[in-house]
Amino acid sequence: MCGIFGYIGQKPAVDQLLLGLKVLEYRGYDSAGIAVLNDKGSINILKREGKIINLLNAFKSLEKNKIYASQCGIGHTRWATHGGVSSNNAHPHISYGGNFAIVHNGIIDNYREIRNMLTNEQHIEFVSQTDSEEIAHLLELEFSKRYSDIIRSESTQRERQKAVLDCINVVADILKGSFAIGVICALTPNCIYAYKNLSPLAVGRNSSGEMYMSSDLPTLCNFCETAYALSDGETAIICKRVAFFDKGIEIQKKPIRLNKEKNTERTSDCKHYMEKEILEIPDAILRTKDKLSLNYMRDTLPWLTKKPETIYFLGCGTAFHACIFASYYTEKICKVYCKAILASEFICQDVKLNDSTVCVFITQSGETADTLQAIRKAKQFGVRTIAITNVALSSICSISDSVVPTMAGVELGVASTKAYNAQLCAVVLLAVYFDICDCIDFRHSNYAEIQSTITDIANRINALNSGKSKIEEIAKTLRRSDRIFFIGRGFDYVTAREGALKLKEISYLYCDGLCGGELKHGTLALISKDVYVVAVATQTDSMKKMYNAVAEVRARGAKCICVSCFEKLNEVSDVFIPIEHVEETMSPIYSIVPLQQLAYLTAVSFSLDPDKPRNLAKSVTVE
Ligand code: AGP
Repeated sequence: MCGIFGYIGQKPAVDQLLLGLKVLEYRGYDSAGIAVLNDKGSINILKREGKIINLLNAFKSLEKNKIYASQCGIGHTRWATHGGVSSNNAHPHISYGGNFAIVHNGIIDNYREIRNMLTNEQHIEFVSQTDSEEIAHLLELEFSKRYSDIIRSESTQRERQKAVLDCINVVADILKGSFAIGVICALTPNCIYAYKNLSPLAVGRNSSGEMYMSSDLPTLCNFCETAYALSDGETAIICKRVAFFDKGIEIQKKPIRLNKEKNTERTSDCKHYMEKEILEIPDAILRTKDKLSLNYMRDTLPWLTKKPETIYFLGCGTAFHACIFASYYTEKICKVYCKAILASEFICQDVKLNDSTVCVFITQSGETADTLQAIRKAKQFGVRTIAITNVALSSICSISDSVVPTMAGVELGVASTKAYNAQLCAVVLLAVYFDICDCIDFRHSNYAEIQSTITDIANRINALNSGKSKIEEIAKTLRRSDRIFFIGRGFDYVTAREGALKLKEISYLYCDGLCGGELKHGTLALISKDVYVVAVATQTDSMKKMYNAVAEVRARGAKCICVSCFEKLNEVSDVFIPIEHVEETMSPIYSIVPLQQLAYLTAVSFSLDPDKPRNLAKSVTVE
């Protein structure tokens, strides 16, 4: 989704901004733009629809020295929410007087009222349909109302900066919603301003004294060694140094040490990040299992001294599927009430929360707006919260009481793969820890045994990765008009849902994931020779029932693909994908891999880019 990037240093800002926006690309966007500010206080803006390359080409065709001399600027990748995809709607937006340019992430809930007020009372003409442009106009308006003398007088840069900062705070009080804003002002050359409310924003500094700003902390790792994450309501003035303010009062912030993530390049033998990330699943699982030692759990969850009575697991999309698995697995292990809740639904429900409730939030990015809203609601009830996330230092880490990290490494493909397997692994270990957290002596627990089962599963996934020719064949037979139902029971239901989501998001086929037992309660009406049914069967208890379900859909003409460790299912399958029999309660960590491969190979056979599916973003930062 939208991304903010800013630069001040000794290099041409255009180059740095384009580099930064390129790194932000993985989040998904539909247009991009930059605004640079030169020493004389003139702002130049360049925006284009589509990929960063369009922006680069537009820049190349410009008279270079016009904007190349600038060493300060802000950039943005836009994900359309209010107003279609166009260069007018792309950010940065400039104010009616030309003194302010802004970039914005988030959603301004009261933008219509502000727009009406600015149009009717101030006669300001808008050039975009966005909920962001009014921020630039409001800044100009407030500045002209309060500080017209500063514009005329021989004021110092510092006085002008203070005035701009004051106006940013005034405007922030008018705005409702979520917003991270980057601002440049023609009256204060070589300076960027940042403001954050409910949408992430950070400032970075490197050893050469260059300053950066980004809405995406992992992006800053490519440019800086040190960063500062803004908290809600804070502003920053970024020039040769950075100063932070809370309601106009200067504050000190703790620096965060950044480590450049290794292994973010595609290897030469992988065409896409998704392919590379599927191959990395065993490592992701093993690293997560190693990190989450018993000692680590004890240190990160010092407050967990007795088994909770109720555990809720909350997340969205793929992470929600990890939540369903978590609720099944934890209930089985701990014998306490567990429930998976969609984060976006949690805020609409009156879920019973009390002292003995723990809420676990699962999120790869740690920035998903729905999940962040849900954790904020849980915290209002004083409930203990745990975040399972793949991005250290993401927003959820600073909100939750404890963090249980997944160690999948950077995941750039929009379709989550290795992070999901790592989430399931973290969930297993957390469940075991919930069960034993009140033990004085952990020596007799089965924690080490569970860890070795995870190692065994990782090794078996390696074998799956080398034998996928059958899946490639299926992928090649699928047509763009096909409809596919995925079915499974118990733990396999989780895999069926995730398999369906994976295939639909990158191949655009209609897919649905169902409980095997639910077919006969409605969906059977849709079963005919035009549909595929993918059945996942790894559970001894439900094997016979799955056999019957497959036989039933096959009798109605559906083409059946069975992913199973039970050879018996071959009798009723059109295509049988044999997998090994692993510890049944943990089988989703393993059995999802052939379905992740199926999704990837289908997208490739349709000549689609699996890393950047249409309409989807890696990090969904708006509700
Ligand atoms: C995964 O393949 C999806 N693109 C999506 O469902 C994702 O899992 C969801 O948006 C939640 O993201 P998060 O894990 O970063 O919170």
